[in-house]
Order: sequence, then C-alpha cells, then structure tokens
Amino acid sequence: MVTALVSGGNRGLGYGIVRRLANEYPSSPLSKSTSDKLTIYLGSRDVSKGEDAKKSLQSELASDILDKVSIEVRQLDTTSHDSIVKLGSELQSGVDILINNAGIAMDGFDGNVAKQTVRTNYYAVQDMIQNIKVKDGGRIVNIASLTGVLKNFGDNVRDRFRESKSIKDVDDLMQEFQDVVADGSWKEKGWKGAAYATSKSGVIAYTRALAKEYEQQGKNVFVVSCCPGYVNTDMTKGKGYKTLDQGAETPVLLALQEVGAKPGEFWSEKKANDWENP
Ligand SMILES: NC(=O)c1ccc[n+]([C@@H]2O[C@H](COP(=O)([O-])OP(=O)(O)OC[C@H]3O[C@@H](n4cnc5c(N)ncnc54)[C@H](OP(=O)(O)O)[C@@H]3O)[C@@H](O)[C@H]2O)c1
Repeated sequence: MVTALVSGGNRGLGYGIVRRLANEYPSSPLSKSTSDKLTIYLGSRDVSKGEDAKKSLQSELASDILDKVSIEVRQLDTTSHDSIVKLGSELQSGVDILINNAGIAMDGFDGNVAKQTVRTNYYAVQDMIQNIKVKDGGRIVNIASLTGVLKNFGDNVRDRFRESKSIKDVDDLMQEFQDVVADGSWKEKGWKGAAYATSKSGVIAYTRALAKEYEQQGKNVFVVSCCPGYVNTDMTKGKGYKTLDQGAETPVLLALQEVGAKPGEFWSEKKANDWENP
C-alpha cells in the first residue's frame, strides 16, 4: 500500500493538497511503479471536521480516482506531542509521503504571538518528522512561504540564517527570535516584526539542514520545502488569488513527480527559488 499523510487536511490548502494528490496519483510515476492504491491519511485536529472534509472530497472526486485512492481521517494536533506520537504508532510501518501543511498566521506581534507561531509553524514540523516514520525512498514536503525568504532582516541575522548548517543552528535562531520579541529588542538586533515570516524562514532553513543531516546519515528520504503561492483560504481572509487546486500544484508536484528537485531546496511556482537572494 502507498500512503500519504497531510496535516491540516480538513480545510484550506491542506484540503486542496489531499484532493490534488488523489487526482494526480493514478498517473504519477509512483503509481505506475507499484500499481498499488494510495491511502491518504487526512490529518485533522478535530476528527468530525476531518470526516466532513472526507465526505466533501469523496463527492468531488471521480469514481475512477476513488477506485485507486482512499481517504482516511486521523486525529492530528501538530502542537500536541501526544497526538503526533499516537498517530506515529498507528502508522508504524511509515508513510511514503508526508506533507507538513498545518500552520497558523496570528494577528498582532508580541512575545506570545512569536511563541505560538514558532511552536505551530516550526517546532511542530520537527516533532512530526521525528515521530512519523517516512519509508525508505519516501518524501517529505514542508509547506513554507515566500514570506520566509531572507530579506528585511539585518545583515547579521540574515547571514546567520544563510550560514546555518545544522538543525541546532536553526533552533538557536528560532529561540533567539522568541527571546528578542519577548524583551522588545528585536528591532535593534536585526530581526523583523513578523512572526509568521520568521517562522517560515525557520522552516526553510530547517529543511536545508535536515537534508544535509539525512545525507550524512545515508538516509534515503527526500525532503524539500515550498510556497504554495497566495491562496484563497481562511488564512488569507479572501485576499489570496489562487484556488486551492492552484495552491496545491507545487506541493503535489514535489510529492509525486520527478522534477529534478534537490534535497533541502525551497520551491515556489514549480521551480527552485533562491531563498538567499530573492
Ligand atoms: N494561504 C496562503 O496563501 C499561504 C501562502 C503560503 C503558505 N501557506 C501555508 O499553507 C499552510 C496552510 O495554510 P492555509 O492557508 O490553508 O491556512 P488555513 O486556511 O488557516 O488552514 C490551516 C490548517 O492548518 C490546521 N492547523 C492549524 N494549527 C494546527 C494544529 N496545531 N494541529 C493541526 N492542524 C492545525 C487548521 O486546522 P483547524 O481547522 O483545526 O484550525 C487548518 O486545517 C500553512 O502552513 C500556511 O502557512 C499558505
């Protein structure tokens, strides 16, 4: 059985990713090489919302797609370590595709906003990757954002992101960001007043560091980050100009197709993006 897990699959981009994964899987190289059905685990912190999404998806998907793809809802709160560990033990044999999509964008900017945002958008992605097994030859797609490119930081902070090599280097940056926002010194220390964007810089840097770590360990799991574009979801409050399906295009491309992406890269609009010199 081929399996994929999408966090935050109950609405927004995650819903669009589940639908597009289902629609594209049957004609993907992965399907052709295995001829197995795909099971998509739709992660939702509220199971009933996940079940509603599943019903809606099943009514949208064509019957020939549903012959080759099934959707199963799984409880998943990515800021709950217990929830992640429980799901990890249910999916003990691992998944072929892990898409870390769940994320938040809070209003305002203070120590609490920085802390909650970094926790959900950054540390939760690490917790997922540490506790959800991805099979040998599998893929991880982390949903980042173009807001996370290295601009509008002071030179010192930007250089440290650029030069971060290990996950610890990136963790240190994310911790420092929370500290400087909490004590009010963020501006003078070269940080920007944007928790969401900074957390996504962290996701991009973490993905790069993780790819290096996997390479050193000889671990055959491909990891990449990407921006879906500006998508019309609750997060963008009706301002996003892309449909869910358009937003899902790059994430699903990276999850299913052979497009020559290199481990650790950051992609947007179906190509590698220069995170350091946007
Ligand atoms: N929309 C855009 O233009 C855009 C652009 C760049 C990047 N992104 C990224 O794309 C991803 C999805 O964004 P979206 O626009 O679809 O946002 P959204 O409409 O607000 O949906 C967010 C999804 O994440 C889930 N979620 C949030 N916190 C969670 C948690 N602790 N545990 C489990 N699920 C959680 C939500 O679940 P509930 O329903 O339970 O709240 C919901 O399913 C995010 O990572 C976002 O940063 C979006």
